[in-house]
Amino acid sequence: MLDLIIKNGSCFIEGNLVKTDIGITKNKISHIGNLENENSNKIYDAENLIVLPGCLDTQVHFREPGSTDAEDLNSGSRAAIVGGITGVFEMPNTNPPTSNKKEFQNKLNLAKNRMYCNYAFYFGATPENQEELADLKSLEGCCGVKLFAGSSTGNLLVHKEEDIEKVFASTSKIVSVHSEDEEILNQRKKLREKGNVLTHPIWRNEESAISSTRRIVKIALRLNKKAHILHVTTKEEVDFLSQNKGNITFEITPQHLTLTSPECYEKLGTFAQMNPPIRDKSHYDRLWYAVRNNYNDTIGSDHAPHLKENKLKDYPETPSGMPGVQTLMPVMLNHINEGRLKLEQLIKLLCENPVKIFGIKNKGYIKKDYDADFTIIDMNKVIEIKNEKIESKCGWSPFNGHKFKGTPVATIVNGKIKMKDGVILGDPEGTPLQFD
Ligand code: DOR
Repeated sequence: MLDLIIKNGSCFIEGNLVKTDIGITKNKISHIGNLENENSNKIYDAENLIVLPGCLDTQVHFREPGSTDAEDLNSGSRAAIVGGITGVFEMPNTNPPTSNKKEFQNKLNLAKNRMYCNYAFYFGATPENQEELADLKSLEGCCGVKLFAGSSTGNLLVHKEEDIEKVFASTSKIVSVHSEDEEILNQRKKLREKGNVLTHPIWRNEESAISSTRRIVKIALRLNKKAHILHVTTKEEVDFLSQNKGNITFEITPQHLTLTSPECYEKLGTFAQMNPPIRDKSHYDRLWYAVRNNYNDTIGSDHAPHLKENKLKDYPETPSGMPGVQTLMPVMLNHINEGRLKLEQLIKLLCENPVKIFGIKNKGYIKKDYDADFTIIDMNKVIEIKNEKIESKCGWSPFNGHKFKGTPVATIVNGKIKMKDGVILGDPEGTPLQFD
């Protein structure tokens, strides 16, 4: 007796869409093949649907502890599963920051039985915590070290070259970097104009991004360490990073692949403000060039919820960031339908590459004995994003009013259907991701 059969779906197996059934026993894939004659407690009919390995969002901010008015681990995970995301890497710029073992354990405790999706947490780097960073190898639920080279939301910052070096030298974990040059940001701060968010990308300019990224890559290569550059936004970084593969990997966000300056600021005002910023069409085009050529390694949403009342303040008093974990899949599936990338490329970016880069165990592929996490999608269904349907506590999306063709219709986590047709089912039973 199987626990669940997903029948008649087109399943993404070994790089191809294969029409087959999938049998699940406990939280594992136990059968792949024709299961017509098998009994099961539950059947999900995936006729006309595509069954993907569970998709991972490798950059989210769920704000707990500290800013739980904007989000918490429960609400963020609800947004994730409604958006077809089965696992997240959550960021340490909470209050207090997740930069010591006590706070890390606190986050794991807070997540237990409160998150619908699976999860891992980043350990925040500070100029002083190298001893803590030295023994993260066996820390349960830790995906890597997060280093803010330029300041953003929260107070985590490691901007001096010698301190960045110490962080890389001290850890065997991958270091994921918010890559903006703090000195350049400080010098250019005067260029911000009160009430004018169009000055945001002028302040946090291309030079601040590429200068920091060059420095990070230099340090990582010299020390033979792994660096993952988060939310790359400039053509200069795309050109530089595409020549530095191997130990250096990088992420692009759906926002930077969908919005351009100045239009987004004219339409959304400070709701389009994020770090690093949305830039003009020439950068957008080069980011797409990277995606087409498989230069970037991941897509992460940088889900960064902020309350509307704070976003409505006068720039630059406004916080940076926009939510995205719920819209990542529809936005990217729509891009596939419009011919900008292929489904197999998206699976690499959201499933296979995260597994390889971060060493996640038993995820990312539909294979016998792998974990039973699936994102089931309908490539023909058109949805309209509406603020009132946003599960995040912030209650808004930069894509409010956008129609997207292609959307997740079911999310299966650890063998259980947790979302069906937009409805959340059962209890939050996500578990920590495991790493090699
Ligand atoms: O715009 C951003 N907001 N960029 C980040 O790196 C941090 C994030 C946040 O936490 O609000």
